[in-house]
Amino acid sequence: MTMPTDSSVTCPIVAGLWRLADWQLDVPSRVRWIEQALDLGITRFDHADVYGDYRVESLFGEALKAVPSLRKRMQIITKCGIRLHTDSRPCRVDYYDSSVGYVRAQVEQSLRNLHVEQLDLVLIHRPDYLMDADALADTFRALTREGKVARWGVSNHSASQFALLHAHHPLATNQIELSTLATGALDDGTLDQAQQLGLPPMIWSPLAGGRLFTGTDAQAVRVRAEMTRIAAHLDISLTTLAFAWLLRHPSHPQPITGSRRIDRLREAVAALDVKLDAEDWYAILIASRGCPMP
Ligand SMILES: NC(=O)c1ccc[n+]([C@@H]2O[C@H](COP(=O)([O-])OP(=O)(O)OC[C@H]3O[C@@H](n4cnc5c(N)ncnc54)[C@H](OP(=O)(O)O)[C@@H]3O)[C@@H](O)[C@H]2O)c1
Repeated sequence: MTMPTDSSVTCPIVAGLWRLADWQLDVPSRVRWIEQALDLGITRFDHADVYGDYRVESLFGEALKAVPSLRKRMQIITKCGIRLHTDSRPCRVDYYDSSVGYVRAQVEQSLRNLHVEQLDLVLIHRPDYLMDADALADTFRALTREGKVARWGVSNHSASQFALLHAHHPLATNQIELSTLATGALDDGTLDQAQQLGLPPMIWSPLAGGRLFTGTDAQAVRVRAEMTRIAAHLDISLTTLAFAWLLRHPSHPQPITGSRRIDRLREAVAALDVKLDAEDWYAILIASRGCPMP
């Protein structure tokens, strides 16, 4: 099977599948959705073993099995390391597990679920306080040698947690939360580290999970008002502006859209043609913080 190479990655917008099980699409509709995303130039699809109570990878895999040629047009990202309680996987508490046996088992399960021979990028989903960086790096190397995983990364890791693992094995990215309603990454060192290392961060919940549009809390109302004003002035949609705000950061963020609706994916891609000026960018940040810059 021909694998897409990293050099074929041109679109920084990624399609996120967290909510796929809620969309209730039959297999032909899942195929159609994937094709439409690909036609927009979105070639990366973000999964995790736990999405949809461990069901999402298989739903996506059914589409790939139905139309195997889709695989050549995309890169598949998935995550592991969260042990989530479900009926079929009982555990007393939800917890994190980056042990050698668990990471290997989950990677091999993801390959089966997705009906692929290799995962393009696998992320450790959450920082495991019991992580043995040396042992985990050995597991990364073994699974890479076996051709099961092309590249590795992490998600929701602090800058120092990233640095620890990166010192043992090269990581491709840290997938973190950032949006006009969740700006912590601007100050917690993760984006600084991404820029310093030249490793673009992946960004989850770029629309704050929809709260940007539906939130009734004071922050959401404030930010929506400011962004609506700027979007009207620029003659773009609020969605496009939200993605343009992320893309403006010099760490070259790669936002993961979580929408089912293809028109919203199109609006995300439209942000690639927008360059916000610094005054508008800061006006949105100030609205988010609710106070002027010091
Ligand atoms: N690494 C992690 O820990 C982590 C955590 C969370 C998510 N993720 C990844 O990031 C991806 C994106 O996260 P997300 O789904 O939270 O992203 P998001 O794009 O911020 O939110 C998507 C949600 O917002 C809704 N929405 C979009 N535009 C709207 C509008 N104009 N009015 C009302 N609702 C609107 C969407 O509904 P429609 O479908 O109707 O458009 C969808 O339910 C996930 O799929 C997953 O791959 C990773």
